[in-house]
Amino acid sequence: MNLFPVYPLNDVTIVRAEGARVFDEQGRSYLDFYGGHAVISIGHRHPHWVKRIEDQLGKIAFYSNSIKLPIQEELANTLGRVSGKTDYQLFLCNSGAEANENALKLASFHTNRKKIVAFKKAFHGRTSLAVAATDNPSIVAPVNQTENVSFLPFNDVAALTEYMSAHGSSVAAIILEGIQGVGGIHVASPAFLKAVRQLCDQHGSVFIADSVQCGYGRSGHFFAHDYSGETADLYTTAKGMGNGFPIGGVLISPKFKASYGMLGTTFGGNPLACAAALAVLEVMENDHLISGALEKGQYLMTELSKIPGLIGLRGMGLMIGFDLPEEKKDLRKKLLSDHRIFTGEAKPNTVRLLPTLTITQSEMDELITAVRTLMQ
Ligand SMILES: Cc1ncc(COP(=O)(O)O)c(C=O)c1O
Repeated sequence: MNLFPVYPLNDVTIVRAEGARVFDEQGRSYLDFYGGHAVISIGHRHPHWVKRIEDQLGKIAFYSNSIKLPIQEELANTLGRVSGKTDYQLFLCNSGAEANENALKLASFHTNRKKIVAFKKAFHGRTSLAVAATDNPSIVAPVNQTENVSFLPFNDVAALTEYMSAHGSSVAAIILEGIQGVGGIHVASPAFLKAVRQLCDQHGSVFIADSVQCGYGRSGHFFAHDYSGETADLYTTAKGMGNGFPIGGVLISPKFKASYGMLGTTFGGNPLACAAALAVLEVMENDHLISGALEKGQYLMTELSKIPGLIGLRGMGLMIGFDLPEEKKDLRKKLLSDHRIFTGEAKPNTVRLLPTLTITQSEMDELITAVRTLMQ
């Protein structure tokens, strides 16, 4: 049987990983400034993460959600403390798309409405309503097309206000990333986040903060949206939550009342995934990785801003993007082939940096030196 090809592949075979490094079959080391697409939050195979998973394997890996699983409560309590959302409730699932799908569904149940507001360049996943709320028609199958989703310009308070004045009473949710990732690293402005909060309150709509990529400390705040001081009703999370072990979640504000049948899952919240997620939070807390992400991000920004030719340097914490001039559009490829550094991309010529929050000074300097050399 052949694999069903879903992505164009780099011609590299990675067989081992440690910290911010991955190694190919010849034992060559690569610096990972991509983090497997913002997934690696505490470093590849962090010893505490490995131990937590191994210990859990020695007890129980899986049982269904029809019994009490105390490790889920431990995760909810720890996540509440580390994120500051102590009064929220937690629904556990397995991926980012699933988290958004459930959040959108919850918003619709809660408001008894159908309309969703999303934004240009948004990415929320590849499943039915998540993909319908993603601004990329080429990945939306005919069966997922719906008139229930409207796309408005990002960071445009006037356009959102106008739309909500006309249609607010039928809007179940406004969904947005605090920092758009796939769309090319665009930070939601504080004024925009404030308007989303205020318009949701005014019209009885639900504010969904898609934190799948920008959340979990990456921005230097637990949730990127929170830098504005505004609070969302639902936060969706995945990627960095398990540091590579699949897990996702929806943090649900106290105003939502659960009823049986509203949400459900077979694998979500399985003990092995919870052990991985607990390890991530424990390392983040003990090693002060969130404040570290802010400082490291500032260092990267300062040093990158000194390199002539990089266009539109932007981002927050360890979620940084810049555009390349046409004549340097191969920089990403050369970072990989000549310097063995993985980075992320966005169309057409954006480089995205999404390293582990444990990235070191010398690893950051390695990237900066390589970018500087290639920009000469
Ligand atoms: C902001 C955002 N939301 C949702 C998703 C979907 O997550 P997953 O691939 O885990 O379904 C992604 C994935 O890149 C994302 O960046």
